[in-house]
Amino acid sequence: MSMKGKPISNQVALVTGGGTGIGRAFTEALAAAGARVVIASRREDVLRHTAEEVNLRLGAERVFPCVFDIRERRLIDALVGQVIERHGTVDILINNSGLAVPETADQITEDGWDKVLDTNLRGVMQLVRAVLPFMIANEFGDIVNISSQAGKHGYADVPSYCASKFGLLGFAEALRDHVRKADANIRVFNFCPGLVDVENSAADAQPKPGFIHVSNMARTLMYALSLDRDVVLEDLNLYAR
Ligand SMILES: NC(=O)c1ccc[n+]([C@@H]2O[C@H](COP(=O)([O-])OP(=O)(O)OC[C@H]3O[C@@H](n4cnc5c(N)ncnc54)[C@H](OP(=O)(O)O)[C@@H]3O)[C@@H](O)[C@H]2O)c1
Repeated sequence: MSMKGKPISNQVALVTGGGTGIGRAFTEALAAAGARVVIASRREDVLRHTAEEVNLRLGAERVFPCVFDIRERRLIDALVGQVIERHGTVDILINNSGLAVPETADQITEDGWDKVLDTNLRGVMQLVRAVLPFMIANEFGDIVNISSQAGKHGYADVPSYCASKFGLLGFAEALRDHVRKADANIRVFNFCPGLVDVENSAADAQPKPGFIHVSNMARTLMYALSLDRDVVLEDLNLYAR
């Protein structure tokens, strides 16, 4: 069994949606641990602002903004090419970008359905497919998917979101089976959080009732990644008590 290790401070992470919310909390934790973190999404100003803030706080250039749209194959390939060219590798891929279009089952539009499924599911498939050859060649990698409580339970107001997040877990299980058979030293983790308060994210902020503080997501990520290479915390279900 391939068990190559690598200190986090030598690793390169790619976090989609890393400029805001949960992705930003992951980015801050990874960068504080010394990793180089490429954050990628559509809004350049948001990405740049986050990168500047985190880099300033750490006194080092650890966060690198990169514009892309996960619904466009061409931009996905360009993103991965850029990361490899600039940083040489991708050790951690965090599939965090995602959105919901609230439309009940009787009112779903094809546009709404496609937007959600293309962003939350098809885009993840495309990105994984682009990154996987590098991880397999390096015999090292961690892939972290951000599903949801709505990936395990159905909610009437967001059926397309539920379909995408259930689908993401199915894709992740098949991917885990694939990398296990390839004996590639790649782990696949899934987060299935309930409500996470991405508005009150200051360290001492009180989360809204029924929500968890976003720092719990980051702490859980760092814990999961720190486990031995032969250990996978498969599904991380985090709910407010
Ligand atoms: N907050 C919660 O309660 C909760 C609970 C369960 C699961 N989740 C999941 O957690 C993940 C992060 O959500 P969040 O709560 O942190 O909300 P958020 O701040 O809205 O994060 C979503 C991110 O996705 C990016 N994104 C959206 N469309 C994209 C596209 N086409 N291409 C590339 N990036 C795109 C956005 O950046 P741009 O707009 O710049 O593209 C944004 O940074 C999502 O997958 C969400 O479903 C959240």
